[in-house]
This record gives sequence, structure tokens and C-alpha cells, in this order.
Amino acid sequence: NKLVVAIDGPSGSGKSSVSKAVARHFNLQYLDTGAMYRALTWYCLKQQTDLTNPEAIIAAAEKFPLHQGTSPDEESIVVGETDVAEAIREPGISGSVSAVASVPRVREILIQMQRDAIAAAPRGMVAEGRDITTVVAPDADARVLLTASEEVRMARRGLQLGGTQSSSDLQKQVVQRDAKDSKVNNFTEAAEGVALVDSSDLDFDQTIAAVIAAVEK
Ligand code: C5P
Repeated sequence: NKLVVAIDGPSGSGKSSVSKAVARHFNLQYLDTGAMYRALTWYCLKQQTDLTNPEAIIAAAEKFPLHQGTSPDEESIVVGETDVAEAIREPGISGSVSAVASVPRVREILIQMQRDAIAAAPRGMVAEGRDITTVVAPDADARVLLTASEEVRMARRGLQLGGTQSSSDLQKQVVQRDAKDSKVNNFTEAAEGVALVDSSDLDFDQTIAAVIAAVEK
């Protein structure tokens, strides 16, 4: 019997580090679906795909040569022959990823890849993103929405209010990206049957413990 855990949340909620820790705790594999949208965006930019043209993005998604590892201990994400683990975290990707992720057919393609990866994990998987609890794996054994107040999310990314010009620009980018993403998927409210974990007043270990408790319930 496999264990599938679905975790959604906005950017800066601590989803990725919490999900990896939960995967290690239960000895499961780990799937970062945001990294898939980021890697597809990298691939589109690499081949100068017009990101205002949904058909062009769909064509790229249909031949997207993604190789993604599922170890919670070591990120491995390769497109074709190129290791993109660092490149996909660049601001240029963060600024363009919502355009790619908002194309419905593109989502269908990546969602299928995500379901295949979950099905292929022998013991099970922790999958995290924006639509895992609702669309990708609504029948997961455990589903968690991880949130935190906007202030706390910004602070965790080192973007304190009233900081430098560049930190307030970055802050605006994060807020804008969440606004665009939440038009595609509602990850601001827990769907029925989804456990809400608000980490605003929890430290990292307490957050992991709260998610583990939600899984064991
Ligand atoms: O989680 P992360 O910030 O890396 O996600 C990058 C982007 O990928 C999000 O801003 C969103 O546009 C997209 N995404 C998505 N659905 C998911 C995961 C991520 O649309 N399940």
C-alpha cells in the first residue's frame, strides 16, 4: 500500500522544504511540480517561443524533454541535456512562468506527467504545487494546504516590508505572481477534505510536525 500526500500553497509558504522533510519522514519520493512549470518556461525561452502565443507554448510542451528526479535529498532537473536546477530559480523565469502555466492544454500535459510520476513511485510520493489537492491528486491519502500570512511569507524570503528598493520590487513580483496563479487555481482556501496548516506562528519543525499530524490523522 502506497502513501500519496498532496500539498498546495502560495509562493513563500515554505511548501518545498516542508514537503521534502515530510517525504523523508515517511520514506517517500518527492515531486516539485512548480519546478516542472519553471523548466518548461526555461525551455520555451531557450528556443525563443513567443510566450504571448498559447499554440507555440503548447507545441513546446508536447515535445518537452524533461528528466526530473524524485529524491527529497537531491534536486535533479534536466531538460534535454541541460541541468536547469539553478537556471529555473532566476527572476526571469519567475516573471514568465505564470504565462506558461495559465494555458489549459499546457496544464493538461504537465498534469498527466505528474500523475504518471505519482503512479510510478513504488512506496508513494509527496507532491507539491498549486493544484495537487484539487486537480492532480484529489484522491490522495492526505491533502494539505500550507499557508502563511503575506508578511511572514515575504519575511521568509528575506523581503521585509520597508526594505531596499530591490526587495520591494521582488516583493511586488511575488504578489503579482500569486495573483495570476490564483486565477488559475484557488490555493488561498482549503477545498473540502483538505487540512489547512497555517504556519504563520510556527517554526520549521513545528510546521513539519503539523503536516505529519495531518497525514497520520
Ligand atoms: O512553486 P513555484 O513557485 O516553484 O511554482 C512556479 C510557478 O509554477 C507558479 O508561480 C505557478 O505559475 C506554476 N505552478 C502551477 N501549478 C502547480 C505548481 C506551480 O501553475 N501545481
